[in-house]
Amino acid sequence: MTRGFLSLDDLPGGDLRSLLALAARIKAHGPDRNLLAGMRVALLFFNPSLRTRASMELAAQTQGASVVSLSSGGESWKLETRRGAVMDGDSQEHLVDAVRVLAEMADLIAVRTFAGLADFDADFAEPVLGEVARESRVPVVNMESAMDHPLQALADLQTMQEEFGDDLTGVPVTLTWAPHPRALPLAVPACFLRGAARMGMEIRVAAPPEFAPPAKLLDDVRSKLAPGGSLRVFDAQEPAVRGTRAVYAKAWGSPLLYRDPDAHLAARKRHWHWTVREATMAHGDRAVFMHCLPVRRNVVVADEVLDGPRQRVYREAGNRLSTAQAVLARVLGGVR
Ligand code: CP
Repeated sequence: MTRGFLSLDDLPGGDLRSLLALAARIKAHGPDRNLLAGMRVALLFFNPSLRTRASMELAAQTQGASVVSLSSGGESWKLETRRGAVMDGDSQEHLVDAVRVLAEMADLIAVRTFAGLADFDADFAEPVLGEVARESRVPVVNMESAMDHPLQALADLQTMQEEFGDDLTGVPVTLTWAPHPRALPLAVPACFLRGAARMGMEIRVAAPPEFAPPAKLLDDVRSKLAPGGSLRVFDAQEPAVRGTRAVYAKAWGSPLLYRDPDAHLAARKRHWHWTVREATMAHGDRAVFMHCLPVRRNVVVADEVLDGPRQRVYREAGNRLSTAQAVLARVLGGVR
């Protein structure tokens, strides 16, 4: 992992389980406070964050590293990401220059980029994350990109291990589409599916037909299925939730409708009743509720679930810290 952590693919074979075991040890016994003493971490954000920023800053600081957080167009210059752009608009600095500068100062760069939400194939190719990885001469960590959020996936897996045991093989989990006033990226659903596949879980995806995950993503997830794992897609919530142990709700946009905002909004409104409620959860087998947060209450999930005994979302968010500590320990520990 010394070259960084762009996706779960950077953790082949047993490395994923070993990283999760390290995160569990750190959570139980605390981090080594001097492990990263004298090291420097730069966090670069293209959009807002609560959990990722807090967990990465604390993960660096609690292990002895110094950290600086910068937001494009916030505390820092607005960054241009297109190669060859004539920068006569409102972007004052190019991403390439920012990365080269930060790599002069820091031992690790972590970046949160964004999905264009105009062309699924372009997002799938991860152009901005790829640019950062190419230009940086220090390891890069993905703090969410167009189609991935591996730090979130680790926290999701740690939460499910705490709930169902270390071996998640064959455990049924349901990822359900949820309504939202905005068309959101596929990064979190994609990373949840990839993580669950790597652990050999019995994965069900529920989504209205217009919002079914693209075949390219499903093929990618199937290619990662560990022995014992499976993937099924449903166009209704109830059959996908029946007998499941965890309901993971997430809103995402339809790549088919990226270029037609009015039709996109109308499609989301047609399925407004997909809000996860107690009645939804009751179809599961003692099912727990998961979500990456932030969440729109009473749109994605009803208060009765989020404030009830089935929710695991705050523990899941808390696990962002121990998993981020484990990632920095592995990446920067390896650099040292
Ligand atoms: N889940 C997650 O990444 O939260 P933030 O957007 O607040 O970082």
